[in-house]
Amino acid sequence: MSIPNEIIKSLVRPDGVHKMVYTDPEIFELEMKRIYGKAWIYVGHESQVKKAGDYHTSRLGNQDVVMVRASDGQIQVVYNRCPHKGAKVVADGDGSIGKFFRCPYHGWTFKHDGTHLSAPLKNGLQNTCFDPKLPDFSMRKLPRVSAYRGFVFASQSTEGPDLVSFLSGAASSIDNLCDRSPIGEVEVSGGVFRVVQRSNWKVFYENLHDTMHAPVTHESSVVSARSTAEQLGSLPFELLIMEGNGEPYEFWEKLELRAYENGHGYMEGIFDPAAAERDPVSNEHFVALSQAYGADRAREILGMNRHNTVIYGSGSPHTVFQQFRVIRPISVNRTLVEIQLFKLKEAPASVFERAMTYANVINSPSSNVMPDDVEVYARCQEGNLTDGGDWISMHRYMGTDLAVEDGMVSFNGTSELPMRNQFAAWKRFMLDDDAERDIA
Ligand code: FES
Ligand SMILES: [Fe+2]
Repeated sequence: MSIPNEIIKSLVRPDGVHKMVYTDPEIFELEMKRIYGKAWIYVGHESQVKKAGDYHTSRLGNQDVVMVRASDGQIQVVYNRCPHKGAKVVADGDGSIGKFFRCPYHGWTFKHDGTHLSAPLKNGLQNTCFDPKLPDFSMRKLPRVSAYRGFVFASQSTEGPDLVSFLSGAASSIDNLCDRSPIGEVEVSGGVFRVVQRSNWKVFYENLHDTMHAPVTHESSVVSARSTAEQLGSLPFELLIMEGNGEPYEFWEKLELRAYENGHGYMEGIFDPAAAERDPVSNEHFVALSQAYGADRAREILGMNRHNTVIYGSGSPHTVFQQFRVIRPISVNRTLVEIQLFKLKEAPASVFERAMTYANVINSPSSNVMPDDVEVYARCQEGNLTDGGDWISMHRYMGTDLAVEDGMVSFNGTSELPMRNQFAAWKRFMLDDDAERDIA
């Protein structure tokens, strides 16, 4: 199955995108090949596989993979498929395979890196083409695996930029997340939240930097947050966003949006540094970081004020509240979002507790903020199935975005620069490698 380059080109205009990109199953299948089959995609964090034999399952688009810690301490990523009859070798989730993989169907075993170890009753395989040294009889490894400060990514392609080049400016958000620990390290802690969205995966990426929706979509939670704040005197720092979503448009217009190559970017933090200065947990954090790095560096680290970052194809790290919302496409109209929470190693316990409160109240399945978004994503999906029109608008502040050394910037936080940037990257990924590329 292939879609001609001319069609792909016609679906993305500088100021809009055709609704087929959200609704067409053939386009979805092509995305799995041309985006998820080529780009670096986040698999998991190395803290999820601490000991030899520990594994964590993940998905690169429609491909089930397993990240495993090998006996030599290296992290391997293999497709979750037994070469005998194709069974998934490990169950979804986290666990340990012990000294080797053992398929639950007929007991073939494989080393931690997937190479064939044994098959029961070898006699029956003699005098055949079966050769345990041939790759056909091993679990297949992903061609490229690379980690950035403990965040493990894999690529299904042997070609393309290295991970650091691919991440471009978005790597600075991973740096800041780690730097918030007094020893510069983080670990996944506690369980994860999972939310299935009844919408295409790209809608969530667009929403992550869409400030114009906040006062409208979240109106109901703003009203309840305001009345609670009145009763309490004020809301804690981690819940300010509930009230903040109701700020007038002038407030959002003052924020900065950054866009990097490959669809990545970030949105400036919503609250000014003064809000953090009034927060006792931030002050405790500052003291711990000052002891480790000195006051100037601690101020610099905590002063890097970012809301959602987008790592296109992988998800959204949040530096201040230490989470990574991993976005996994399931089908053209279903997306699984897994929220991983990170503990900053050797930071005060209150910092992690604050992150848990943020995750629970703001973006867990039981939150009264995130369901607002999930509802409108589904409405976009359903609305785009009607014959009411064909194009999606990305006009806002088009033509005012500024080119900077490492990408683009808008000093108006209501600009639709992030969406335009994501779809420019989408188009580049989706064009056939062998054909001429039209970089929008
Ligand atoms: S399918 Fe794995 S051993 Fe048979
Ligand atoms: Fe929202």
